[in-house]
Amino acid sequence: MKNLIVANWKMNPASQKEGKEIFEAIRDGVKGLKEEVVICPPSVYLYASVFGQGIVSMGAQNVYFEDKGAFTGEISCTMLKDLGAEYVIIGHSERRKYFGETDEIINKKIKKALEAGLKVIFCIGETAEERDAGKKNEVLERQIKIGLDGILNLENLNIAYEPVWAIGTGNNCGVVEAKEAISFIKNLVGAVDRSTGPRVLYGGSVKSENSGAYIKEAGANGLLVGGASLNAEEFVKIVKSAE
Ligand code: PGA
Repeated sequence: MKNLIVANWKMNPASQKEGKEIFEAIRDGVKGLKEEVVICPPSVYLYASVFGQGIVSMGAQNVYFEDKGAFTGEISCTMLKDLGAEYVIIGHSERRKYFGETDEIINKKIKKALEAGLKVIFCIGETAEERDAGKKNEVLERQIKIGLDGILNLENLNIAYEPVWAIGTGNNCGVVEAKEAISFIKNLVGAVDRSTGPRVLYGGSVKSENSGAYIKEAGANGLLVGGASLNAEEFVKIVKSAE
């Protein structure tokens, strides 16, 4: 199983032109490396003519769980696939926090995306309050139990452990703590050895100085990178650190 290194651009950059520049620099920089690299730009930049076919895969940051119809503003799995997306991030903490996504909504989205043949990056993680209250494992267990309810085939599933307090704060999770959480998650989903999956990624203030340790010491099968993925040179260094 290859390591999966995912760039989550969030609502950045401001123009297609800038997006194309970052994309091309990443694509050229990771050529020949053995990691699987996925870039998740805003959906409007997914359009094939913007990026063309490259050696990296494309992913979306969100999707809706209905096939079509009167759901103003939403985008379906079929539409994403039609634009060339292979992956979709589901359940990111920003979607949970700002857009009211519950574990139940996330479960519907994961089901639909897997049915549609998209590969899923399912995000879970505890807040600072939950961690301080000693509820980290309880939260992770609930998010996984409800998020994956009724889903038997985990073949196209990847799970990203992203402690909410580590996202965008510069306060990345310590390697020992990440290792514990990653093992806990792997045990819950039965991913006991690297060959069986699902891959469990780490995300939260990943930079090239800390990235290698999550793969080599904490047992992560990949990384979900936010802020640092908008800097092509830095993101390429992160991908190389996983080699
Ligand atoms: P960050 O974001 O790398 O900027 O902390 C990670 C994420 O939100 O996926």
